[in-house]
Amino acid sequence: MTTSHQSTQQSPEPAGDNAQQAAAKRNLWLHFTRMSSYEHADMPVIVRGSGPYVYDQHGQRYLDGLAGLFVSQVGHGRTEIAEAAARQASELAYFPLWSYAHPRAIELATRLADLAPGDLNRVFFTTSGSEAVESAWKLAKQYFATIGQPGRYKVLSRELAYHGTSMGALAVTGLAAIKTPFEPLTPGGVRVPNTNFYRAPEFVARDLEAFGRWAADEIDRAIVREGPESVAAVYLEPVQNSGGCFPPPPGYFERVRRICDSHGVLLVSDEVICAFGRLGHYFGSQRYGYQPDIITFAKGATSGYAPLGGMIASDRLMEPFAEGTATFLHGVTFAGHPVSTAVALANLDVFEKEDLLGNVRAHEAEFRATLEQLSDLPIVGEVRGDGYFYGIELVKDKSTRETFDDDESERLLRGFLSNALLDAGLVCRADDRGDPVIQLSPPLICGPEHFAEMEQILRSVLTEAWTRL
Ligand SMILES: Cc1ncc(COP(=O)(O)O)c(C=O)c1O
Repeated sequence: MTTSHQSTQQSPEPAGDNAQQAAAKRNLWLHFTRMSSYEHADMPVIVRGSGPYVYDQHGQRYLDGLAGLFVSQVGHGRTEIAEAAARQASELAYFPLWSYAHPRAIELATRLADLAPGDLNRVFFTTSGSEAVESAWKLAKQYFATIGQPGRYKVLSRELAYHGTSMGALAVTGLAAIKTPFEPLTPGGVRVPNTNFYRAPEFVARDLEAFGRWAADEIDRAIVREGPESVAAVYLEPVQNSGGCFPPPPGYFERVRRICDSHGVLLVSDEVICAFGRLGHYFGSQRYGYQPDIITFAKGATSGYAPLGGMIASDRLMEPFAEGTATFLHGVTFAGHPVSTAVALANLDVFEKEDLLGNVRAHEAEFRATLEQLSDLPIVGEVRGDGYFYGIELVKDKSTRETFDDDESERLLRGFLSNALLDAGLVCRADDRGDPVIQLSPPLICGPEHFAEMEQILRSVLTEAWTRL
C-alpha cells in the first residue's frame, strides 16, 4: 500500500518534545475530545502545512482530507494570504463595526453581495459559524417583532443537523447527545426529518423524488402543527454534514421554498460548510438553485487564515431597521475584524486566480468515482455527497444495511479507525453521531492524485477494520 505517511526527517525526537507533550496534557483542553485518551498516548501536534498536506511535530506528513475542519479551501502555507494579514495588522489592526466601518469590511461586504444569490446583499459579520447561526435567529426574531408579528420565535431544523454549540445555536442543532447536558436550551427549536435516503422510511424508500416531497412536506406539517404564526425560520444546509453528507433530493429545496413562502417563514441556508467552493459554487444554494432569505457562512470564507463568519440577508430584512430609531440589537467585538476581512479578500483572490470553483467542477465526478471504488468492501454501505464533500457510511451487513451497535461502534470508530487513518497519513473524520460514517472534505486544490491517495489509505484501513469486528 502506498500512503502519504512518509517521514521527511529522520532525526530523533526533537528536543523539547516531551516537555511539549507534558505542557499540552497539563494545560490544553481540546474540543469535543476525550482527554483521557491522551493519558498514555501523545497528542498529535500539527506544526505546519503546505498545499493539501500538514506535518506533525515529528515531520510526519498527512493528507488533509478534511481541510482541517471543512475550512482550508485554498490549502495550507499560502504566503500571499499571510502577507495580506500582516499588511492589514500594520495599517489598522482593529476597529469595531459598532458605529464605524473600515475599508476591508466594506470591500468584503460588497464582494460577497456580488457573489451571493439573488437579492442577498446585506452582510452582517461575526467571528464564527455558531455566531452566524445565532445572529440569523436574532435577526429573524427582531425582524418579525418589528413588522408586527412578535409571536414568531421558533426555528425548524433537521434531525442530526449540526448548527453550532453556543446555547442558541445548540437549540437549532439536531444532535440530542451534545444537547442534553446543557438543557434547558433556548426555547423554540423544532426538528424535522433530514434527507438521508439510504435510511428513508419504507413507503418512500424506492423513489428519491417521492422521498424528497415527503421530507419537504414534513416541514410544512411541522409549521402547521406548531402554528405558523409562531415560526420564524427554517434552517437547512445545502448538503447536511452531520449524519454523513445528505444531499437534497431533486425538487426538495424548490418545494421547501414554496412552503416557507406560503407560511411567511424565513429560509436560512446554513452554508458554514457548503459555501466558498465546497460544492463547486460560491454558495451551496447556487448549486441547487434555491433562493434563501439569509445565508450563514464561516470556515472557508478565510480558508482558516483568520477567523470570520457572518450572515447575508436581503434588503427586505434590513428595511425595518433602516429608518428612525430602529436598530438591530446585536453585535460582537471581533466580528468583521480588519485582519480577517483582509484575509477573506486575499482568499477570494486565490479562488479567482486559480479558478478553484472550476477545479472542483472539473474533478468532482472523478472524486466520486474514486471513492465509489470502495463500495466493493463489505463494510462500505454507501458513498454519498456532492462537490468535494463526501460521506462513506459503514455497515455491519451490506444487504440489510444493519448498522453497528454501540459497543461495536465504540471499538470500531474510536478504538481503531480514527487513529489508524491518521497513522496511515490521512486526516478525515470518523463520526458516529448518526450512523457511523467517514467524512471527506479536502482542500479545493486537490486533484486525481489526492483522490487516489485517499482511496488507498481508506481501502487499507477499512479492510483491516473489517477483520477486527
Ligand atoms: C453547518 C454548520 N453550522 C454552524 C457551525 C458552527 O460553526 P463554528 O464551529 O464556527 O461555531 C458548523 C460547524 O461545523 C456547521 O458545520
